[in-house]
Amino acid sequence: MRIRWIVVCIMLLLNGLNCKGSLPIGATAVGIAGAALYAGFEKLRCTFYECCYKGADWIQPNIAALNIALEKYIHGQHLVRNVVSRALKAHLFNDQPSKALVMSFHGWTGGGKNFVSKFIAENTYKLGMKSQYVHIFVSTLDFPHEQMADIYKLHLQDWIRGNVSKCERSLFIFDEIDKMPLGMINGIKPFIDYHESIGGVDFRKSVFIFLSNTGGPDITRTMLQMWRAGKSREDITLMDLEHLIQLGAFNEDGGLHKSELIQHSLVDHYIPFLPLERRHIELCALDEIRRRGHRPSQELVKSVADEMVYFPPENKLFSTTGCKRVAQKVGYILATREYENLFE
Ligand SMILES: *[C@@H]1O[C@H](CO)[C@@H](O)[C@H](O)[C@H]1NC(C)=O
Repeated sequence: MRIRWIVVCIMLLLNGLNCKGSLPIGATAVGIAGAALYAGFEKLRCTFYECCYKGADWIQPNIAALNIALEKYIHGQHLVRNVVSRALKAHLFNDQPSKALVMSFHGWTGGGKNFVSKFIAENTYKLGMKSQYVHIFVSTLDFPHEQMADIYKLHLQDWIRGNVSKCERSLFIFDEIDKMPLGMINGIKPFIDYHESIGGVDFRKSVFIFLSNTGGPDITRTMLQMWRAGKSREDITLMDLEHLIQLGAFNEDGGLHKSELIQHSLVDHYIPFLPLERRHIELCALDEIRRRGHRPSQELVKSVADEMVYFPPENKLFSTTGCKRVAQKVGYILATREYENLFE
């Protein structure tokens, strides 16, 4: 497109239209005109199609909106909200971060790790999870064969390089990172290290989120100890769980375990997700009932919460699956009731 315009302009010039000036000046003018045209064209294209550059508002982090979403839908995770928002704010609004932001989410299944990742994507990219700058990898789906680790690693490096050279503000989410072959994780290291650029590409503006269930049992043990000591859940601070990082509980077997990311402390934030209690399950049920456009009732919420399994056996404090499957349970109960109503 650009070439064609430049050719047209040069032809006009050569045809004697005001071409008395020296050719170099004319050519420069044509070049500038061509570039301006191209820029205009790009701008127009970016009003309709997702673009990465700063002026186009396809990438617009909104920390306030993120906070509202986390507050409203992430139940029982007071530690998560503060750390995630602050870390993102510091990174996304910095034009020259010293390295890529790496956050590692840990804890029992159903605690909201995927949900938080989704909210981060939705409040950074206009297209949310559908943005071409958001990349999700699930170890058991994308890298299922241990013996292919070397090939996966090369692919992954190509993808990261290719995608970041298209857009520096890319988001990479690695689900089940604990199930990823060790060699692969070390392959990510160069991209999240403090390098200014690798082969002309600057990786420091990208964000990496690692999700895994590791540390779940240790977090729960600590919570139980505190509960016995009469401390309330909301009193638990990151500091109380800090020792788990030192113990390596978040990097037990597989995945990050023994990886160079850990040895070089390239993970910026370890974020523990606490096991959920019955009252949090009820809040999740409430969200889901409302989302389906039904009127919530105490009784309905209670029957959803009753369906879940709780542990430890002696006091049944925590849900074994967190809020996972609460949505299905709500759907199932509502459907059963509607079916029964038909026959009343
Ligand atoms: C970007 O990553 C995706 C995987 O999420 C991959 O399929 C694609 O080829 C990558 N793009 C480039 C330009 O490397």
